[in-house]
Amino acid sequence: MTALLRALLVAAGMAPIIPTTTLAQNTGDPAAGRIVASTLCVQCHRVTAQDTDPNRTPPDFGAVANMPSFTELSMRVFLQTPHGQMPRYQFSPAELDDIIAYLASLRRR
Ligand code: HEC
Repeated sequence: MTALLRALLVAAGMAPIIPTTTLAQNTGDPAAGRIVASTLCVQCHRVTAQDTDPNRTPPDFGAVANMPSFTELSMRVFLQTPHGQMPRYQFSPAELDDIIAYLASLRRR
C-alpha cells in the first residue's frame, strides 16, 4: 500500500491494521515517543522545550502541539504522509501512538 493510500484509509477510519479504538483513544507511551523524536526528528526539529537551536527551522514540537489544529488524528495522518525533506518513515502503529503521545504531552492546555 502506498503511504498516501494508507493515510487516506486512516483518515477515513478504514485502515485494516489500526483498530478504531486506537483512533479514538491514543494509548501510546510518551517516553518511548520522546526517544523516537530525539533520534529521528531532532535532525530537523527542536523536539524538547530545552532545545533552542536556531539552526533547526522546521516548526518546533512545542509549537506544533499547541497549534489549534493539533489533534491525534491529524498527526496520525500527517506522519504517514511525506513532508518537507523528511524521510519517508514507515512507523508501526505502536510507534505512531508513542510519537503522538509524546507530542500531545507538550500541550500546554
Ligand atoms: C529532514 C528534515 C525533517 C525530519 C527528519 C523531520 N521533519 Fe518534520 N518537518 C520538516 C519540515 C521542513 C517541516 C515544515 C514543512 C512542512 O510542513 O512540509 C516539518 C513539519 C512537521 C510537522 C508539521 C507542523 C505543521 O505546521 O503542521 C510535524 C508534526 C512534523 N514535522 C513532525 C515530525 C516528526 C514527528 C518527525 C520525526 C519522526 C519529523 N517531523 C522529522 C522536516 C523534517
